[in-house]
Amino acid sequence: MIRPDQHLVLVGMMGVGKTTVARVVGERLGRPVLDTDLVIEATTGRTVREIFVEDGEPAFRQLESDTLNAALASERPAVIAAAGGVVLSARNRAALADSNARVVWLCADPATLVERVSSGGHRPLLDDDPAGTLQHMYEQRSPWYREVADAIVLVDHRSISEVVEAVLR
Ligand code: S3P
Repeated sequence: MIRPDQHLVLVGMMGVGKTTVARVVGERLGRPVLDTDLVIEATTGRTVREIFVEDGEPAFRQLESDTLNAALASERPAVIAAAGGVVLSARNRAALADSNARVVWLCADPATLVERVSSGGHRPLLDDDPAGTLQHMYEQRSPWYREVADAIVLVDHRSISEVVEAVLR
C-alpha cells in the first residue's frame, strides 16, 4: 500500500507496460506522472533514439540518472515510470533503495515482452535481435529489479486494470 507522502516508482523491462500503468495509476491517485524517457525528451528537445545515436549510450545513461534523481527529489508525490535501464547503475539502485519511495517491479516473462515491444521508436537497443536482447537483459537485470523493489507485480496474462489494482494494493 502506498503512503500519501511517498513517490511510487515503477521499474521493469522494456515493454512491460510501465508508461501505461503509470498513467492510469497517476489518474487514480490524482498525482503527476513522471516518465523518465519523456522527461528527457522534453528537457533536451531530442528523442531518446537521437541521443543514443548522436551522443552514445553513456551520455543517455547520465541524463537518465540525473532525471531519476531529480524525480525522486521532487516534492510533490508522483508516479515515476523509470526507464528499463535505470537499474544498470549502482548509484541509481542506491538512490532507489535509500529514497522514501515505494518501488514496484512490473515483471514479465521475456516471451511476453517480445510480443509487446514495438520496433523502432525509443528503443534502439532492440533494433537487432529483440528476442535475444530481451532474454539477455532479463537475465542480467532481474536481480537488480528484485534488489530495489518493495513489491513485485507479475504482468503475464493480466490486463492493464488487473495490473493497476495489484500495484495499488
Ligand atoms: C531502455 C529502455 C527504454 C529507453 C531506452 C533504453 C533500456 O525505456 O530508456 O531505449 O535499456 O531498458 P522503456 O523501459 O520505457 O522502454
